Amino acid sequence: MSKTKIVIIGVGAVGATTAYTLLLRERADELVLIDANQGKAKGDAIDMNHGLPFLGKTKVWAGDYEDCRGANIIVITAGAAQKPGESRIDLLKRNAAIFESIVGEVLKVNQDGILLIASNPVDIMSYLTWRKSDWPASRIVGSGTLLDSARFRYLIGEELGIDPRSVHAHIIGEHGDSELPVWSLANVAGTRIAFDEEQKARIFESTRDAAYEIIAAKGATYYAIALALDRICTAILRDEGAVLNVSTLLDDYHGVSDVYLGVPCVVDRTGVREVLKLEISDSERELLHRSAEKLKGLIQSLEA
Ligand code: NAD
Ligand code: LAC
Repeated sequence: MSKTKIVIIGVGAVGATTAYTLLLRERADELVLIDANQGKAKGDAIDMNHGLPFLGKTKVWAGDYEDCRGANIIVITAGAAQKPGESRIDLLKRNAAIFESIVGEVLKVNQDGILLIASNPVDIMSYLTWRKSDWPASRIVGSGTLLDSARFRYLIGEELGIDPRSVHAHIIGEHGDSELPVWSLANVAGTRIAFDEEQKARIFESTRDAAYEIIAAKGATYYAIALALDRICTAILRDEGAVLNVSTLLDDYHGVSDVYLGVPCVVDRTGVREVLKLEISDSERELLHRSAEKLKGLIQSLEA
């Protein structure tokens, strides 16, 4: 059996927590940490190696781009992160420049892995990565609204006193301020969730603004996103065909094309195998179009 290798580029709060999550869950035989700050990657690798007597046999090391050769998945969590009060979009120019060099280096040595993008604004970073590569969009996957949907399910579950794993509810669109809740399809075991408008507004706003609240409180978010990235890696490595709200290139999705957005996708060893078309309402469709237009405008402004 060939070894599974995951590379994480950008070992800050998100990258390090993701590496640790993958390590605890023994997801890969080899885990490589790459960061512009080589000391951080080296220190994290040594620290994690010292935990191996309590774990399995994962090999962890601080590497360089040459180590992307043969990797099954390359997770990109590098770049600027929001400061309190900043939006994800405020990071666009800085992270687009950082991605230009990172993606170029990866493509020199890996042509058949899967690139999993988490850096923000994640939908645009994923789109720019796809455009820079000549890869099928299926192999460039953004973390999308998987995290937002988890927050949404958690908050709905809290309100109902139901385990969030039994709540089926989706946030779609931008991973950011223009995202939208698909209330028309939210359910528990097929039963509609009968919230009033105040409950719906409160739960959605808490979902959408969760990152602002956490960043104001402690400077960064990293635990839940690490679990979301672990979930995506697992679906890929185990060829699961799991339905996850990742960011992917849309092609006439309710009339939206040529932009990456978070929607339910079937994820397996090929990356995004299929995009599932939710039967959303007319008002949800309108909000999805607005989210797409916002991101398209930003991509155009970057290219101008
Ligand atoms: P951080 O500042 O803690 O870590 C960023 C790391 O990237 C640093 O270690 C830095 O040295 C490294 N880096 C910078 N430029 C690099 C380069 N050219 N090559 C290699 N490494 C480089 O930030 P963080 O809190 O870990 O956040 C990382 C990114 O993830 C941010 O863009 C943030 O907005 C995003 N994020 C996304 C989600 C999501 O749901 N998609 C959730 C949380 C954070
Ligand atoms: C999040 C990041 C900041 O936690 O995008 O949603």
